[in-house]
Amino acid sequence: MPTSSIPYSFSITTIESAEKFAAALDQEKPQDSSTSVSGAEDETSCRKLEESYKIVNINEYLSDPSLEQKLLSILDEFRSPKNENVECFLKKDAIAFAKNGQAVSYLVFRATTDEFVGYFTLCTRPITIASTSNTMSNAFKERIEPLCTPDENGTYSFFVYLIAQLGKNYGVSESTRIDGKDLLRLAYKTVLEMKRRIGGVAVLLECEDSENDFLKNFYLDNGYAVFGERVSDENKKLYQLVKSIW
Ligand SMILES: CC(C)(COP(=O)(O)OP(=O)(O)OC[C@H]1O[C@@H](n2cnc3c(N)ncnc32)[C@H](O)[C@@H]1OP(=O)(O)O)[C@@H](O)C(=O)NCCC(=O)NCCS
Repeated sequence: MPTSSIPYSFSITTIESAEKFAAALDQEKPQDSSTSVSGAEDETSCRKLEESYKIVNINEYLSDPSLEQKLLSILDEFRSPKNENVECFLKKDAIAFAKNGQAVSYLVFRATTDEFVGYFTLCTRPITIASTSNTMSNAFKERIEPLCTPDENGTYSFFVYLIAQLGKNYGVSESTRIDGKDLLRLAYKTVLEMKRRIGGVAVLLECEDSENDFLKNFYLDNGYAVFGERVSDENKKLYQLVKSIW
């Protein structure tokens, strides 16, 4: 994900994107436990995932200088050769972003060995959907109107969770690496816990147009739906994806 997603205010301005966004929120809860972590999902698989990994909020290291020093040595182990931005964010920005309250990174460790296998970064973002109400479908209105009242221009505004970064640590041996699908499930599970505390309906992420559409397909395979595209500050095409929080 580009770091520019963190301060970005999402704005949906086309009817097509708005309808795709609403349709993604309306999808039936998936039965496949590999794509969701909640409720009636296969509890054994969910428990196994929770038992296999330990998630530590980066803020837990930031209360004490000696812990912060320990954090720096943990972060130093992280390698992401296929996406240097993910490595660079963790090593250069993650601490400052947590201290400023912009975004919080979560470090994932293998429970049995304490190896640092990956991380994800979460924050909340505002989103607006500009609508011309007489052209929006009833399905759109039924899904979006309970979330917020449109303003006098017909614009809906609410907040979403953003998975702002996600990356596995390629610095550990291949046999120890976390499966990306599990890392994404742990990020989703953390968002789900926040939904239970303060509400929320959707989690968003942005990914670059990568070799063979690898990243877009990875997120599509895990239950996310593309609702839009934009061009990043670095002039790269970004796909915007959304998933309902069950
Ligand atoms: C996205 C990710 C979590 C998925 O994990 P996964 O499904 O277990 O994927 P793997 O690590 O097995 O990688 C599968 C293949 O994709 C390649 N790949 C990984 N990240 C890639 C990227 N960003 N763009 C293109 N190819 C990538 C891997 O090198 C690997 O290629 P290989 O099979 O030829 O060795 C993980 O690939 C990752 O951390 N990538 C780097 C960071 C990143 O791009 N994060 C996403 C930001 S939106």
